[in-house]
Amino acid sequence: MFSKAYSAVIHGIDGLIVSVEADVSDGLPLFDMVGLLNSEVKEARERVRIALKNSGFKLPAKRITVNLSPADIRKEGTAFDLPVAIAILTAFGHVLEDNLDSTLIIGELSLNGNINKVNGVLPLVYSAKREGFLRCIIPKGNAGEGAVVDGIKTYGVSTLLEAVELLNDLDTRQPEHMDLKEVFANSADKDDVDFSEVAGRLAIKRAIEIAVSGMHNILMIGPPGSGKTMLAKRIPTIMPDLSFDESMEISKIYSIAGLLNNRALITRRPFRSPHHTITTTALVGGGAIPKPGEISLAHLGVLFLDELPEFNRNTIEVLRQPLEEKSVTISRHHGSFHYPAGFMLVASMNPCSCGYYPDRNKCNCSLPMVKRYLSRISKPLLDRFDICIEAMQIEYKELQQKKEEESSSDIRKRISVARQIQMDRYKGQGIWFNCQLTPSSIKKYCKLDKEGEALLEKAFIKMNLSARAYHRILKVARTIADLDSSDGINIKHISEAICYRSLDEKYWGE
Ligand SMILES: Nc1ncnc2c1ncn2[C@@H]1O[C@H](COP(=O)(O)OP(=O)(O)OP(=O)(O)O)[C@@H](O)[C@H]1O
Ligand SMILES: [Mg+2]
Ligand SMILES: [Zn+2]
Repeated sequence: MFSKAYSAVIHGIDGLIVSVEADVSDGLPLFDMVGLLNSEVKEARERVRIALKNSGFKLPAKRITVNLSPADIRKEGTAFDLPVAIAILTAFGHVLEDNLDSTLIIGELSLNGNINKVNGVLPLVYSAKREGFLRCIIPKGNAGEGAVVDGIKTYGVSTLLEAVELLNDLDTRQPEHMDLKEVFANSADKDDVDFSEVAGRLAIKRAIEIAVSGMHNILMIGPPGSGKTMLAKRIPTIMPDLSFDESMEISKIYSIAGLLNNRALITRRPFRSPHHTITTTALVGGGAIPKPGEISLAHLGVLFLDELPEFNRNTIEVLRQPLEEKSVTISRHHGSFHYPAGFMLVASMNPCSCGYYPDRNKCNCSLPMVKRYLSRISKPLLDRFDICIEAMQIEYKELQQKKEEESSSDIRKRISVARQIQMDRYKGQGIWFNCQLTPSSIKKYCKLDKEGEALLEKAFIKMNLSARAYHRILKVARTIADLDSSDGINIKHISEAICYRSLDEKYWGE
């Protein structure tokens, strides 16, 4: 007696289909599992055996062999328990064979036959749809994420018995349904902070507005108490809404990381602010069972590194490649895979170890000490910040002014306009923000007038800019023009973009 069920395994942020074959034959009673397995899947053998018994199935003493294939991909996690149990039960004739071909099955079994939640259901269901499966059986606890995938029926089940009953009579149940409009409508969380609480600081607020509009990387440098952290913490309150496609892309990553926390989808842009003690693996991803790191959890949102020089230098240097490629490659001896990492980097730092350089009334650090402190941020990393802005010590007058400050919702309105302009311009090209423009698309979309051209040329020579800096200036200028609802990039836009590069020279120059 032979049967075949289907399941899937996560690879990067995609699912790969795995077939689960069970063979039952006469001979010494034995339960064997083959295929490239790690210890977790071997433990599955015990869980399945006991769960079958505790679900009331008395199986005759036979030789059972289960094979997971293809053999050359690593099958990790506990999600194979349920398909293995179903394949065995089918081989023994307890489950109708008819529906197995068109059903993808995912779920971890408890010893009592209950089905537990697993990570990565959303991308797995996605891959099932892509591969032409008609339905998925998934843990009840993951039913929400399964239901958001259009064009495939998903059924959430709580016990092994329930899964068996369902496969034997599909008409007994309606597939899960999710009203996506409602999910998005309910996502408008109220923020407990607002930009209106920040007195003055107009230049920095403007720089942040530009950065968020085009998702450009921004570095704030200044003395303690100048409001850097305060400003950064308010960035989520002005981030533009997520489109459905963006939400899906982020949700897949959170599904794999097991961070959906009972939500069907992530409906707000991520804002991740890891502590400076974070390890390289936690930041960029990886590990024995590969997991997305903070840079992928911040995909299409913000990665905030407060006190940047306090991070391990090697750890932040690893950011250089993903900052350029907007994805990260994790290599393993059995192959490499990619996680998306299209985040906007927001960082803050003091200019020296006491924090007050270049204010010589307060800072006694020697110049070599200052240089050493600043050199914790390498030039190539610095080059990747499109916008560098100084947060000077706040003056009493600025703090005390009675003027009403602009609220987050006012700023957000302007950002939404710039965002819509970008969405319309790049429709169908897989680009959402100006920061994603490649050198060839920069040529196409960031045309300067004569005056602007001349200014940029002068700045390029005088500031000794890199090719990367040149492209990044053009992208920021594009965003400034978009905030101005201007088709063309004029001298005003380009000169503001160049200004945001001038701090390199002031602090890091020779
Ligand atoms: N512009 C401002 N308006 C209102 N309050 C402010 C402003 N700037 C700073 N503050 C107050 O000062 C506190 C400290 O600011 P914040 O922690 O953001 O400084 P910082 O620049 O991050 O300093 P550090 O370099 O020490 O981390 C804030 O919590 C807030 O109470
Ligand atoms: Mg701070
Ligand atoms: Zn100092």
